[in-house]
Amino acid sequence: SKQTLIAPSVLAADFANLQRDIEMINQSEADWFHIDIMDGVFVPNISFGMPVLEAINKHAKKTIDVHLMIVDPDRYIKTFKDLGSDILTVHYEACTHLHRTLQAIKAEGMKAGVALNPHTNVALLEDVINDIDLVCIMSVNPGFGGQSFIENTYKKVKQLKEMIVRNGASTLIEIDGGVTNKNARQLAEAGADVLVAGSYVFKAENPIATVAHLKQITTL
Ligand code: DX5
Ligand code: ZN
Repeated sequence: SKQTLIAPSVLAADFANLQRDIEMINQSEADWFHIDIMDGVFVPNISFGMPVLEAINKHAKKTIDVHLMIVDPDRYIKTFKDLGSDILTVHYEACTHLHRTLQAIKAEGMKAGVALNPHTNVALLEDVINDIDLVCIMSVNPGFGGQSFIENTYKKVKQLKEMIVRNGASTLIEIDGGVTNKNARQLAEAGADVLVAGSYVFKAENPIATVAHLKQITTL
């Protein structure tokens, strides 16, 4: 059977109880920590930055998946490596020289990811798919947690999966935004490998049971 990875988004954690929430994810069946970095320029919101990631990394015992929603991400590749990032994802829309950026991320020993805004067609990755470890398909407009899932995402997942297979690539497909028990299984069936879940996990009455449930319903 095939397991889908679950990556709780720390953006939805209680920042006044961050250590408690990190330990809770450590105890859960979650696979990765998803970390949303926003600069107030690429997206209309500012989340948290380097000192907070450093604090998270002290306690987190799972893969650190960093999603940069910032302009000109090349400036900070080494910084995020030093802060403990295992996977570094940049936005397609923020990179003029995406191929070069991907090589720079990998040269630092991290996995390289590319995120696509809802309006960005997956076909634009055709010429670089073999260089990408992870594609993050945004299923909401980036900038905020708690938004509702855009249904067009299923089509994009299928199209991307087909491209990955056709190119013999080993790229993982991650879905980010509005993931709940209502769409998780269908996303896994369409080809998603990793599901990010923020509000659905952290605002739940029992986050540990919620992660376990997501794991269970997305095992194919
Ligand atoms: C949105 C972020 C997401 C967000 C997901 O800009 O990239 O990772 O935290 O939160 P939910 O699951 O609440 O949509
Ligand atoms: Zn994210």
